[in-house]
Amino acid sequence: MSSVTVRVPAKVNVQLSVGPLREDGYHDLVNVFHAVSIFDDVVARESDSITVAVTGDWADLVPVDDTNLAVQAARALAKHAGVCYGADLVIHKAIPVAGGMAGGSADAAAALVACNELWGLRLPAEDLMRLAADLGSDVPFSLMGGTALGTGRGELLTELPTTGTFHWTFAMADGGLSTPSVYAECDRLRATPSRGFWPEADAGLLAALRDGDPHALGRCLSNDLQPAALSLRPALAVTLEAGRRLGALGAIVSGSGPTCAFLVEDAAHAARLAQALPERAPIRATATAHGPTPGATIL
Ligand code: C5P
Repeated sequence: MSSVTVRVPAKVNVQLSVGPLREDGYHDLVNVFHAVSIFDDVVARESDSITVAVTGDWADLVPVDDTNLAVQAARALAKHAGVCYGADLVIHKAIPVAGGMAGGSADAAAALVACNELWGLRLPAEDLMRLAADLGSDVPFSLMGGTALGTGRGELLTELPTTGTFHWTFAMADGGLSTPSVYAECDRLRATPSRGFWPEADAGLLAALRDGDPHALGRCLSNDLQPAALSLRPALAVTLEAGRRLGALGAIVSGSGPTCAFLVEDAAHAARLAQALPERAPIRATATAHGPTPGATIL
């Protein structure tokens, strides 16, 4: 096999409850992930070394050195399997960079799946999941896709049942937000640390997902990182309010931001919102999407 292409989705968090800061620098989470149909494609070709190149709208913002998470994933996989194969990786990027949609994590997950196939390793899914968790808290979900509850630092996943399709409009901001600084701002804003954090998903939210009820889901969307993202980027409040005024069923910052996510009635509503938002809010681009979608998949 000389080339493998893997398609991997973005995510939005429909619930993101942040517990106290742990000794290892992470926070315990109750994180309800939902994979949506904005995709990066990662192509892996046979090579003597591991390299990466990036194409697409956000390409100039992605590092192409050893800090690239897809490169780190390929190296971790080779080390785990005890091989010294190479791969030229090309990432075709549609997921915003540093946008709160797990774009870097998605590329790492795609690289794991692509190189496992390219190199004929046939490692089982459990091995890939363990490697994924070492690469980043959101990487296991990018492998898995669908809708899932993530606990621990977000890497301990349980699949959640859903019915039907949910429709979304996303508003991407100019410039990203660094995830560690948003968590740090969240800690700073909390007058007292949240003690006694007990990881539980919102029962109403789980029922809305299970029933395929976008109105109920819209009312239940929650993100503990949103006040921190708004504190660092006050203009996001304008974007969220514009979406609400345009009839979104729910409006939320996606993960650590600055992308804003709007849950809508159907695909037509998503298209109307995507067209109307740029006139009313300071954003770089909009995209429509639906979820849930599968995780990293070989094309
Ligand atoms: O796991 P990942 O490398 O994606 O996390 C990036 C940063 O986000 C961490 O270094 C940490 O500052 C923050 N984080 C956190 N708690 C989590 C996940 C991430 O504080 N559960």
